[in-house]
Amino acid sequence: MLVEVAGGTDKIGSMTNSPCTTLPRIIDDLAEQGWSVLPQFIPQTLTLQLAKECRDRAKKGALNPAGVGRGNQQQVLEGVRGDHIQWLEPGQSSVTDEFLDRLEALRCELNQSLYLGLEDFEGHFALYPPGSFYKRHVDRFRDDDRRTVTAVLYLNPDWQDEDGGALRLYLDGDKPLDVLPEAGTLVVFMSADLHHEVLLTQRERLSLTGWFRRRSDVLL
Ligand code: OGA
Ligand code: MN
Repeated sequence: MLVEVAGGTDKIGSMTNSPCTTLPRIIDDLAEQGWSVLPQFIPQTLTLQLAKECRDRAKKGALNPAGVGRGNQQQVLEGVRGDHIQWLEPGQSSVTDEFLDRLEALRCELNQSLYLGLEDFEGHFALYPPGSFYKRHVDRFRDDDRRTVTAVLYLNPDWQDEDGGALRLYLDGDKPLDVLPEAGTLVVFMSADLHHEVLLTQRERLSLTGWFRRRSDVLL
């Protein structure tokens, strides 16, 4: 459901989604337009458990300011991105393992249907404190072309327009599209092409963000 809003930007609100139609829809959307937005990708109970896990990790001090760039070129630049992250590893918790299992099913489906040759997934929890943002960027690094499909799952119940923090997608030849980071919504898009940003958030904003990667064409 696309809702026309003032200021020349489209916005996606909430709608329901049956689990058996989820994967085919992602495949069709990615093939046709290079991006997809799916409300209620996973059951709300799992989303809320993941949100609690993220907050618990933040309280323990396990999240760190995210860097910009790759390897030893990486720098923390709060004027570019202000989120705090922790990378996911298998076996960290049953809820993150359940999430990784679901993404593994999506990876297989993307490979079978779209021949993307995705080999693995790397992802992290992200917490944007009030007042933070992530300026416009693309996700694929200049010196590493492995990131192929970006996937972001939001963990924030009852997100309101006035909370800010929308993901703004700069769609080719079209108006930008703002997606609210509402709990359960999954956004996927092609990592190399789609410019996007996280608008200033007024409220703590939690997500799981990651990338399906293929084998590199570049000699590293
Ligand atoms: C990122 C990013 C989008 C979001 O981490 O690269 O663009 O909505 N995140 O959190
Ligand atoms: Mn990004």
